[in-house]
Amino acid sequence: MLEGYEERELISSFRRKGISKNEYAALLEAAEKELERGRPLAYITGEQPFYNLAFYVDERVLVPRPDTERVVEKALALAPPGSFFADLCTGSGCIALTLLYNRRDLTAAAFDISADSLEVARRNTERLGLSDRIEYHVEDVLKPASFRRSFDFIISNPPYIKTGSISDYPSLSFEPHSALDGGRDGLDFYRAIVENWSCLLSPDGFFLFEIGYDQAADIIKIAGNAGFSCGIFRDYGGNDRVALLKKKQVQFGAL
Ligand SMILES: C[S@@+](CC[C@H](N)C(=O)[O-])C[C@H]1O[C@@H](n2cnc3c(N)ncnc32)[C@H](O)[C@@H]1O
Repeated sequence: MLEGYEERELISSFRRKGISKNEYAALLEAAEKELERGRPLAYITGEQPFYNLAFYVDERVLVPRPDTERVVEKALALAPPGSFFADLCTGSGCIALTLLYNRRDLTAAAFDISADSLEVARRNTERLGLSDRIEYHVEDVLKPASFRRSFDFIISNPPYIKTGSISDYPSLSFEPHSALDGGRDGLDFYRAIVENWSCLLSPDGFFLFEIGYDQAADIIKIAGNAGFSCGIFRDYGGNDRVALLKKKQVQFGAL
């Protein structure tokens, strides 16, 4: 049995696609079967609300999550005027595009290893009319960065689930495995990004990461080892969710 909000979302997606009313009943029945199999509603409707926008999504990208809105909120508050920033592991583009839409002074470069996901991100970019303020690059962020400009800040919601735990979440089985797998301890991306991308941060630059609810202590350690201070912010459920890493300022004594 469809929940009320599911039926509403489905019907408004039929309307957007120009489907006639006499086809609704059969399509609703088919959608109900898909939902029972565990397929996310967003992949069926092709749309997911995120912050104050709606993003096109399909199976090539992770469905944007409300937890990630917290990272966006922090970035909107912290981004210096006129910033040029990087969004690593951009997927649907939801983080970068929401920042650009809500802060007209920002420009961005977004990176993902998946050319397929960048097609989705470009589609969202065009829908939102933001094409002149963002560039996209296929890039493996686990390797040294090939980009040559510096950033005022670098934001990322990388894969952060432990390889061995992914099967504990059957609801994620419809989403791209590469969007989830953070390596043996779930921390591969944080270590690699801090190591490979800090050389591209401007002198006052910072990293903003979405993190798993149980990863704060590990991220603080990774930051400290690389010469960064680290602040942790919680989401609205009270879980640790956002890490802010800033370069520690070197103190020079009097000569
Ligand atoms: C957790 S999803 C985040 C997507 C989007 N930023 C969001 O917040 O909804 C992680 C993304 O990392 C990408 N990814 C996985 N491995 C990567 C790698 N080695 N280099 C760059 N991107 C990678 C995946 O393709 C996926 O789009």
